[in-house]
Amino acid sequence: MATAINRAKLKSLRLREEQQFLASHPNSAALYARAKNSLLGGVPMNWMKKWPGPFPVFVAHAKGAHFTDVDNHDYIDLCLGDTGAMTGHSPEIVAEAVAQRARQGITTMLPSEDALWVGEDLQKRFGLPFWQFTLTATDANRFAIRIAREITQRSKILVFNYCYHGTVDETIATLEKETVVPRRGNIGPPVNPAETTRIVEFNDLHAFEAALKHNDVACVLAEPAMTNVGIILPDQDYWPAARELCRRYGSLFLADETHTICAGPGGCTAEWQLDPDILVFGKAIGSGIPGATFGLSDEVAQRISARIQLELRRRRNRRHAGRQRAQSGGHARHPRAPPHAGVFRPDDSAGPQFQRRRSRRNKKTQPPVARNAIGSAGRIHIHAVHTPQWARIRSRQRLRTGTLSPPVHTEPQYPPHAIP
Ligand SMILES: Cc1ncc(COP(=O)(O)O)c(C=O)c1O
Repeated sequence: MATAINRAKLKSLRLREEQQFLASHPNSAALYARAKNSLLGGVPMNWMKKWPGPFPVFVAHAKGAHFTDVDNHDYIDLCLGDTGAMTGHSPEIVAEAVAQRARQGITTMLPSEDALWVGEDLQKRFGLPFWQFTLTATDANRFAIRIAREITQRSKILVFNYCYHGTVDETIATLEKETVVPRRGNIGPPVNPAETTRIVEFNDLHAFEAALKHNDVACVLAEPAMTNVGIILPDQDYWPAARELCRRYGSLFLADETHTICAGPGGCTAEWQLDPDILVFGKAIGSGIPGATFGLSDEVAQRISARIQLELRRRRNRRHAGRQRAQSGGHARHPRAPPHAGVFRPDDSAGPQFQRRRSRRNKKTQPPVARNAIGSAGRIHIHAVHTPQWARIRSRQRLRTGTLSPPVHTEPQYPPHAIP
């Protein structure tokens, strides 16, 4: 028996709830009104606007599975599993360790012994031998994807329809009539995701193999069980077959265990013996402190090392060729470099532009400061580390395109205030 929805009644009920919410949350309402003056949309992260009601409640403090808002309401937090606080808010042991570390220096550009302990523990849990750390799972996925592309020399990433792996551009896409298109809410995609991504439905092995058969998939980026569209478990024998297909077609298998880590101390990787080439695990690893990690198999580590050796050989050969030109009377720099190019010579348009920026800054109008800056001049990327005494600029070629000329002189002797 079909019953018509009484929309007028729904509306009046909603209005009543909203009024009640407003009356019982005056402090959150006031903070939201103030936040709109400094935070885009009145929230620090745009998805926080997605809570129902006219404004989000503002948190005063959180402990275990509860949090308290600024109007002193206590809530049971049913969102723990989707945050770094999967193990509860501020466990005592974590709060103490963090406080202790904070007093001993928080950020350095060198390793500490703690990192070794964590690497060794991750080895035991997941079976992968080599580990690196990042601040977010998105970032770990991005690093992993870059590595996969570099060592396979393939361009595409395969993901499952309606996956979520953070704000990884390649993954914010969906299928429309079997064509890959940007997903709703994908803001400013850098390129059409059809160029970077293949998408198949989870648990469809035929589609999976058909996608891999193009031989252009660098890696399959997958949650062992999909957790961001409800929870979809893999069919029995899905992963052993899918894993085998990855090997057959030369695509790496990148397991994103950011949520599925809750399956056990070694995530689904250990529970289901998935044997990924690369494993990403974020959020809960820091028990509330943002952090993430990715682990690499021995084979992947060796292939990265082989690519690095190859690149070093190429550079040596280029330097050698440069010396030969110098000895034969030419400039000891790239043949396309014009006579005025002093520091970088990325291409015809970027060189003079960089020169102009440099001479403007040489007017010494800014006081010396210590800071980091990442900028780019034309197609060359520059990483400048400022110290009160000195500035170092390193240039990095885009290795893949091979379109850039080598930097002519990598240590320009600027005073520190000459840097953006
Ligand atoms: C499976 C999965 N991977 C990656 C991410 C991104 O995590 P982060 O916010 O640390 O970048 C999420 C976020 O929910 C996720 O569910």
